[in-house]
Amino acid sequence: MSEKAPEAGAAWDAGLYNAKHDFIWKYGSDVVSLLDPRAGERILDLGCGTGHLSAQIAEFGAQVVGVDRSAEMVAAARAAYPNLKFEVADARRLAYREEFDAVFSNAALHWIHEPELVFQGVWRALRPGGRFVAELGGKGNVREMQDAMDRALDELGAARPGEVQPWYFPSVSEYVTVAEKNGFEVRLITLFDRPTALADGAAGLRNWIVMFGAEYLAKAGEVKREEFLRRVEELLRPKLFRDGQWWGDYRRLRIVACK
Ligand code: BEZ
Repeated sequence: MSEKAPEAGAAWDAGLYNAKHDFIWKYGSDVVSLLDPRAGERILDLGCGTGHLSAQIAEFGAQVVGVDRSAEMVAAARAAYPNLKFEVADARRLAYREEFDAVFSNAALHWIHEPELVFQGVWRALRPGGRFVAELGGKGNVREMQDAMDRALDELGAARPGEVQPWYFPSVSEYVTVAEKNGFEVRLITLFDRPTALADGAAGLRNWIVMFGAEYLAKAGEVKREEFLRRVEELLRPKLFRDGQWWGDYRRLRIVACK
């Protein structure tokens, strides 16, 4: 899931990711079902993070290559699954040529603001007839959370609303347009709400921001960091805190597209 720019990606904490964000690959199992991997297929897992979904795909007998832009994530994946192949690679510059029956991606592509480069690289990587099966945050994903972080930064005089834009959450029409422009036939695309429980009870929201919201925290700065986190929690508590836990206002975009 960590196709974040390497500048920030270098700071990915694979331990925290594994310990507190296991919902990412637990939900990702649904996307593996959509992929429907077959024994003997060669499958590229784009933005593999710590490799848990690559391992699930391999259990079907597929030959998996997991790639991630974060060397730390790839190191953690290799340590966890020494029999699988993992490489550090940038999804905007994939160098594979007609090597894969399928390219899979879960919760990674919203870190990349250049979807054309992703589709072009995936196209090159797929053999003719191959499929691209992906899930990412779609239009409106974490909107309440972004609005609250924007507002808190604005109140602190640290940034204007919308100044921090770490993510790319496309609409259905936007994503279909880019896919088709790059040669794909879109077989399925869907956008749906999936409120997602953030691990660790009352600390869930701040854990999430620490893991994923580095750009917001950087704007707040060390001095105002705690004030920022408290204000975001205060703004979101009436909307996203229920029964002792935080719920991310996730909205997913799923796509199956063929070469
Ligand atoms: C997501 O999976 O929707 C997501 C994860 C981290 C940051 C933003 C969105």
